[in-house]
Amino acid sequence: MAFNVAIDGPAGAGKSTIAKSVAAELNYIYVDTGAMYRAIALYLLRNGIEASDSAAISERCKEAKVSIQYVDGKQVVLLNGEDVNPYIRTEEVGNMASASSTNPDVRLQLLDLQRELAANNNVIMDGRDIGTNILPNAQVKIYLTASIQVRAKRRYNELIAKGQECNLEDIEKDIAERDERDMNREIAPLKQAEDAVYLDTSDMDIEAVKTAIIDIIRSKQ
Ligand code: DC
Repeated sequence: MAFNVAIDGPAGAGKSTIAKSVAAELNYIYVDTGAMYRAIALYLLRNGIEASDSAAISERCKEAKVSIQYVDGKQVVLLNGEDVNPYIRTEEVGNMASASSTNPDVRLQLLDLQRELAANNNVIMDGRDIGTNILPNAQVKIYLTASIQVRAKRRYNELIAKGQECNLEDIEKDIAERDERDMNREIAPLKQAEDAVYLDTSDMDIEAVKTAIIDIIRSKQ
């Protein structure tokens, strides 16, 4: 049987960095479900659909066929056959993904793909509703978080390192808004699964978090 690790948590908690690195160490597949929502969001943006137009989102998301490939161990997200990895990491796409992922038709569209990947592979899957909704029987569940201030500062440092201009206060506001939407939506809101291990990484560096998670996984194998 495939071994499944579910990592959920708010934006900027470091889920993808950590999950990627733990997956490489354990030889598991890393599944970034946020990237799937971002691919649908990109499709909607490219077609001029407003985040507030739920009828159009329900209708048009069906045209966005998302699939996943692994190239040299790296997840490549295909949108109607196109590699969209270079386009899905912007703030605009992230905000649209947060808004459009509240739509039940968008969520339904990605459910089978996520469950199928977990049924056929040892995976570390990260997202918002993996432990609560997508993989309720995952052998390991982790809820990874950090304070809004720490998450905003990490994001700020990342953008500065990439040479992008940004403002810490704006980033903090953006993260708070995204938390509010992700945690309070009607369908599959972000919350800690009852059987998930809670890990606050505000005062931990990447190596410490990675070690803690590998220890948790090994204790359940
Ligand atoms: O993790 P991320 O920032 O790439 O995710 C972008 C948005 O997608 C996030 O704000 C909410 C949504 N999302 C979701 O609703 N469920 C998931 N399992 C993953 C992401």
